[in-house]
Amino acid sequence: MKLGVCYYPEHWPESDWAEDARMMREAGLTHVRIGEFAWARIEPCRGEFDWGWLDRIIDLLHAAGLEVTLGTPTATPPKWLIDAHPDILPRDEHGHPRRFGSRRHYCFSSRTYRAESSRIVEELARRYGEHPGVTMWQTDNEYGHHGSDESFSSDAVEAFRGWLAARYTDIQSLNMAWGTVFWSQTYNGFDEIDPPGATVTEANPSHRLDWRRFCSDQMCSFNQAQVDIIRRYSPGRPVTHNFIGDFFRLDHRDISRSLDIASWDSYPIGLLSESQAPKEHKARWLRSGDPDFAAFNHDVFRACAPRWAVMEQQPGPVNWATYNAAPAPGMVRLWTWEAFAHGADFVSYFRWRQAPFAQEQMHAGLLAPDRPPQPVQEEIRQVGHDAAQIPALKQSRADVAILLDYPSAWQHEIQPQGNLRGPLEPTRAVYTACRRLGLNVDFVFDDSDMDGYKLILLPSVPVISDAAWNNLKSSGATVFATALTGSRTIDGRIPDGLAPGPLRPDLGLRVEQLESLPSFEKCSVRIEDKNYGSGRWHETITTDAEVRARFSDGSAAWVRSGRFQYLVCWPEEDLMRELLERLCRETSIQCRDVGPDLRLRRAGDLTFAFNYGPDALDLSQIGAPADSGGYKIGSRHLAPYSLAAWNAGL
Ligand code: GAL
Repeated sequence: MKLGVCYYPEHWPESDWAEDARMMREAGLTHVRIGEFAWARIEPCRGEFDWGWLDRIIDLLHAAGLEVTLGTPTATPPKWLIDAHPDILPRDEHGHPRRFGSRRHYCFSSRTYRAESSRIVEELARRYGEHPGVTMWQTDNEYGHHGSDESFSSDAVEAFRGWLAARYTDIQSLNMAWGTVFWSQTYNGFDEIDPPGATVTEANPSHRLDWRRFCSDQMCSFNQAQVDIIRRYSPGRPVTHNFIGDFFRLDHRDISRSLDIASWDSYPIGLLSESQAPKEHKARWLRSGDPDFAAFNHDVFRACAPRWAVMEQQPGPVNWATYNAAPAPGMVRLWTWEAFAHGADFVSYFRWRQAPFAQEQMHAGLLAPDRPPQPVQEEIRQVGHDAAQIPALKQSRADVAILLDYPSAWQHEIQPQGNLRGPLEPTRAVYTACRRLGLNVDFVFDDSDMDGYKLILLPSVPVISDAAWNNLKSSGATVFATALTGSRTIDGRIPDGLAPGPLRPDLGLRVEQLESLPSFEKCSVRIEDKNYGSGRWHETITTDAEVRARFSDGSAAWVRSGRFQYLVCWPEEDLMRELLERLCRETSIQCRDVGPDLRLRRAGDLTFAFNYGPDALDLSQIGAPADSGGYKIGSRHLAPYSLAAWNAGL
């Protein structure tokens, strides 16, 4: 449970540094991330290095007892480098270069940039790899942010063709997989294929799916090259990358194989403002963020690597959303503890001092632009005091898991069949429904060990690989899937024998037709003598499985065959909760509705409660101790935007 901060010494006079370090210690911080945008200060001209300032700040932080995470500066190639090698710039789908003057202005496939990235990382790693103050490395900054996951440069085209040739070996296999006979798209060789951009109408979906895979792979191999160099010069020091929250074009699981710690950047208020959530939702959690946003990402990154962390935590209003509300007092402490309760190694705040210049002038820091500490530092100190009451937190396998599959997210983006609020909307909705029932949730990937789960949920996951299905089958868990699951092969085609693809034989059902419906068209599902809402997707099936619930017209809505269950529509909130409660009862999982604002997390013997809402809550109503003696943090009277922790379960 370590606390850190992101610091830009190059933004401030050197005479401020010692006092900054002293104030960081005083605030209870032990870790400082530096360097990730400082290439132009490290190497002002090609081959001329100015190491002096970096040597001095690392020495100074180390002497002050602060551990340094050193970022490789490759998210911001300097102007002299771009001018010498304009082929580094990423190109949009029309082939126009994106320009210098912000950040992330490089193409992952640029051969020049790969060489330059390795060169600067090697210089840095050689110089600081064994420095006792540098205890962790961060590669680059937020791969893929600002649309930088895609580039249509000539190097990218060539790399994509090579990637396709390696995947398909011969062009006929690619033509078959993509169905290029449709609209005369047949290719005679890999060198005829372009990335799927700027087409007159939609490009071939299988082509797009492979493009997503390729772009993700390019980010992975770019990262791997940096990690290899760092490990050579800095053995034994963990390497991390700070992923963007809520961004699923990069297969985090895949890239995390090369990392020791998967870290992510948590901006709950900014991202809620930018999301497509309804107005009432945005209003309710304007100053606290969606109650499941941070936890969702925590649980994703927890599943990706043996260790995970929050590298950037929003400490006040940000600058980049349309509206930038300030967090309610208490939220920074709450977010910090929620991360620890989910198993974070550390939480680091972005940023130390607000910059009175350039792009992020309106982004809060822990210090005002003219230096006085911001009141949020009190919350951070409070985290330190709380921590004295809390033993090392243990994480254990949850009863419930959700299958997270990146190609499926890409498939939803490519052919959404309806108005999805982002490719992971079904996954998020199921996650929220579980959390509303007070459950701990794990994410699993297709190749994860799934043994020991009681219930595994497949929230409209179109691509079910053979590996996923074999693991699901051997897990012993009850498996519950919703419409569209198994509706595509890994190539993005309708499976032979139709949906739900590999689930078909075990479930004993076949989807004959799928319709997608606007939000004003609802179908009601009857369970016992009550009707529940469903919409968006509605499948007509033939089945010999047991029908557990029907639509009002008598057709099958929910079926079961042994351990496998399938819902042929998308459940509205009431139906989702009813189904989950039933599934929990049937699989002996304890749950209860904790309401819209309260969220729980069990870590070892401790239960944490987080109040994301504006009203005080009485925790004794959910079975928490009534007397204050049982609490490590807080009491049963849970103030708005506050937390409590006590021994023993729900
Ligand atoms: C992150 C980024 C930081 C900073 C921050 C502002 O996406 O990694 O460098 O820009 O946003 O909120």
